[in-house]
Amino acid sequence: MRDLPIGIFDSGMGGISVLKEMKKLMPYEDYIYYGDSKNIPYGTKTKEQLQKLCIKIGDYFIDRGVKAIVIACNTATSASVDLFRERYNIPIIGVEPALKPAIEKYNRGKIVVLATDVTLKEEKFAKLMDRYKDEANIVKIPAPKLVTVVENGITSGEEAQRAILETFEGINIKEVSSIVLGCTHYIFLKDAMKKILGDNIELIDGGVGTALHLKNILDEKGWLKELKKEGTIQIINSCDDEKKINLTYTLLRS
Ligand code: DGL
Repeated sequence: MRDLPIGIFDSGMGGISVLKEMKKLMPYEDYIYYGDSKNIPYGTKTKEQLQKLCIKIGDYFIDRGVKAIVIACNTATSASVDLFRERYNIPIIGVEPALKPAIEKYNRGKIVVLATDVTLKEEKFAKLMDRYKDEANIVKIPAPKLVTVVENGITSGEEAQRAILETFEGINIKEVSSIVLGCTHYIFLKDAMKKILGDNIELIDGGVGTALHLKNILDEKGWLKELKKEGTIQIINSCDDEKKINLTYTLLRS
């Protein structure tokens, strides 16, 4: 198992933000990244549609032979992490909005959770909300525009700014202590958000936590690569479009 690659996927390019953290923490591992850009957005699909799409990718990874699968998408995780754990006999790591650290560290004012419609409506998030709703003032905001912007490779400039301003329309930013980036695409807009919203607001995501969690699991099993040689990253996209692949590499290097 030790020498097999790690499979990681998202509805498109957002999961690259998680892959970057994994690569920093586990540089000797080999990775296969699958971006399902042909079917983006996941955030507006039904649970059944999402499960079908995700299983196709999961089965593909199993055929390729991977030692673990990271679902680097909050939306896909809410719809199919349980199904993956039933179906596949390897470690499955999902992501969820990092509400816990937001509550622990920044419990003043409002905590905004930005995520897709599906993530905010699914049972998984409802349970998370139930656990913390009495501890802070939590505001949920779906932000589909931000997914489109990043998927087009835009992480700064006027278009990104416009999409961010639109997302926070009607929100008094002065009352907000932190923003949970509950979609892996949004992580690429961190700098642009900071510029607009100011330095007083903490932007929280689960990228590093996910990478650490995976490392611990592999370490416990003795499945981390021993050879201290820089690992490889293979990028696959369901669009099979050269431009998409190049854009994904650009985000990976950003
Ligand atoms: N990147 C995905 C997530 O973390 C969502 C993007 C989409 O709507 O496809 O939820």
